[in-house]
Amino acid sequence: MNSPSLVLDPEHALPNAAYRDPAVLAAEMARIWHTDWVFVTTEDHVGSAGDQLPVMVGDQPVLLLRNQEGELVALSNLCAHRGTMLVEQPANAKRIQCPYHAWSYNDGGRLLAAPFTPKGTVDKAAHCLPVYRVESWHGLVFVSLDPEVEPLTERFAAVEPHAAAHGVDSMHHWSDWQETQVWDCNWKLAIVNAMESYHLFQVHSRTLEPYTPTRDAYYITGSARATATGGRVEGGDDYLLISLPPGFVGVFNSGAFYWQAVHPAGVDRCAVRTGGAFTSTPQRRPRGRLARWLSRTANYGYSLPDFLPEDKAICERGQRGASGDFNPGRLVPAERVVADFGHYLNWRLNDIEPPAVHTEANP
Ligand code: FES
Ligand SMILES: [Fe+2]
Repeated sequence: MNSPSLVLDPEHALPNAAYRDPAVLAAEMARIWHTDWVFVTTEDHVGSAGDQLPVMVGDQPVLLLRNQEGELVALSNLCAHRGTMLVEQPANAKRIQCPYHAWSYNDGGRLLAAPFTPKGTVDKAAHCLPVYRVESWHGLVFVSLDPEVEPLTERFAAVEPHAAAHGVDSMHHWSDWQETQVWDCNWKLAIVNAMESYHLFQVHSRTLEPYTPTRDAYYITGSARATATGGRVEGGDDYLLISLPPGFVGVFNSGAFYWQAVHPAGVDRCAVRTGGAFTSTPQRRPRGRLARWLSRTANYGYSLPDFLPEDKAICERGQRGASGDFNPGRLVPAERVVADFGHYLNWRLNDIEPPAVHTEANP
């Protein structure tokens, strides 16, 4: 957001221009999606040596792969010859060969061969695929196009001990369960909605509220980098919700982990991906709604949670209102995680140093 009028007040809602102005999206692409850590998938999705998966990081096509040494690698997915997309479907191969003129690369992005070119015509070293940063945080894979980005362990340090207490070290992911929807709203409406528990009693009065009441939700710890919140679950253990901006939210409950990831697809559209994991062996009679839903999934196949259409509807309604102007309203204490996200935006977009980690005592 280069315009000074879009320096944000994190104690208030975002102005509507943040949801409709292409200049804002362009700034977010440059200063968030093309420079920060972006969640791309879970590790099991590229589980074997040679597995290749095309993913998007902002507007940049990226090829995520597992090399012959078993390490994750992220490369530009654009051929160094004339820029053709190299891999468009999940594949398994030792090498990458362009479908256009068959230039081929190894799994580190090094150009191996350029057919029908006289020796010395193509400088191979100058035609390698750019290599990007890739790290896994407990099986969740993030890519950054910025070589200087801080390590994920630093980024998520505030939530790490809380996630560890909920079994994040032993998460077993199933990439087969991933589902993607397109929502007609700006990406920030979708991710902020996934972060806060203030709306449960109203939007999810019959789905979530009876099990995870708004009045029993609480803030644990957080900053612009990552936030942990929680809440009481009827008949089960408290849930833990981790918000990892710009686009990832995950909920732990009773040995299950449900996640939602958001990625922009234009100023008024975004992709919302959901998935699940177990943090322990599935219990025969799991306690808690999320754990029950995930164990059903394990037995009968993946089904989207019943509360998701309610979230989609309210976020799209927010976007329909974004054509008008309004005076951004005050965030209430139950929305502290939304304020953290405001600080995140100011940090990334406006170079405003975010406040230190804030922690609250809970019952
Ligand atoms: S564009 Fe890839 S080999 Fe020509
Ligand atoms: Fe919701």
